[in-house]
Amino acid sequence: MALVNTRKMFEMAYKNGYAVGAFNVNNMEITQGIIEAVAEEKAPLILQVSKGARKYAKISYLKAIINVVVEENPDIPIAINLDHGDTFETCKQFVDDGFTSVMIDASHYPFEENIEMTRKVVEYAHARDVVVEAELGQLGGIEEDVVGVEDVAKHVADPDQAVEFVEKSGCDSLAVACGTSHGAYKFKTEPKLAFDVIQEIGERLPGFPLVMHGSSSVLKEFVDLINKYGGDMPNAMGVPEAAVSKAAKMAICKVNIDTDLRLALTAKIRQVYAETPGEFDPRKYLGPGREAIKAMVKHKLHVLGCAGKAAECL
Ligand code: G3H
Ligand code: 13P
Ligand code: ZN
Repeated sequence: MALVNTRKMFEMAYKNGYAVGAFNVNNMEITQGIIEAVAEEKAPLILQVSKGARKYAKISYLKAIINVVVEENPDIPIAINLDHGDTFETCKQFVDDGFTSVMIDASHYPFEENIEMTRKVVEYAHARDVVVEAELGQLGGIEEDVVGVEDVAKHVADPDQAVEFVEKSGCDSLAVACGTSHGAYKFKTEPKLAFDVIQEIGERLPGFPLVMHGSSSVLKEFVDLINKYGGDMPNAMGVPEAAVSKAAKMAICKVNIDTDLRLALTAKIRQVYAETPGEFDPRKYLGPGREAIKAMVKHKLHVLGCAGKAAECL
């Protein structure tokens, strides 16, 4: 059993200049695609569940799937994280349900309130050996339960605040807004990340793990397939892989990916529907979707630099 919190992973990721992939799970096929990739590449893994995922699939089902993943892969250190917890009560519920990490996202509240809410979650979680991720600054984009800001560049994290926030809140890692956003439309023109902000916060908080949300690359391969087979995703744009790799070598120790999983699955399902209009066996379209997720995640683990690092994180 290698169900762990993220402490050792982040220590090694920081020291050795890589980031651990945190992948959002919503169903069995997505989870299987991820773990098959991770097992073959021998990488540490963070599986995460959003409030929306919990609403869709029920925590009992998701937890049962994740339990199998953990049991069947004793050589892979696996942390399970609540993604974008919005209240103390939500975080408490996930801690009580056996998650090893929770994120309290109070970044849209005033600074002092963000500290207060985070501090409260930290007290509850640390007493149960669960780690806490917090967020500073605001991301853009819209997901089911996460509404972001329009002009991402104006809402990057403030390095002075980051130092004060970490000291006062006691959080274990900090998601810093640095120009990324959730979803498939991250930039209107040129992709641009605030590496200077990552650099400065990294220098002012030596050894402290930072997190990058909204890190999908929105791979052309999948967007093209979606558009080719009846989809409509003009101007989709993600974080270039080179930028993700660069951040992973800096103080970013956790990189969140959801959209790339959704795109891979959707692209393959669309392709099967279009090429085999008579197909109605879900295994015949979810199966290729799962394979596409596996191949994409395998590649991503090399972009993050965490392939082959499972053993050192145990
Ligand atoms: O950060 C957002 C994740 O992509 C989760 O999205 O709330 O639609 O599950 P969701
Ligand atoms: P993407 O939408 O870029 O995959 O980001 C996911 C995320 O940050 C989940 O918290
Ligand atoms: Zn996020």
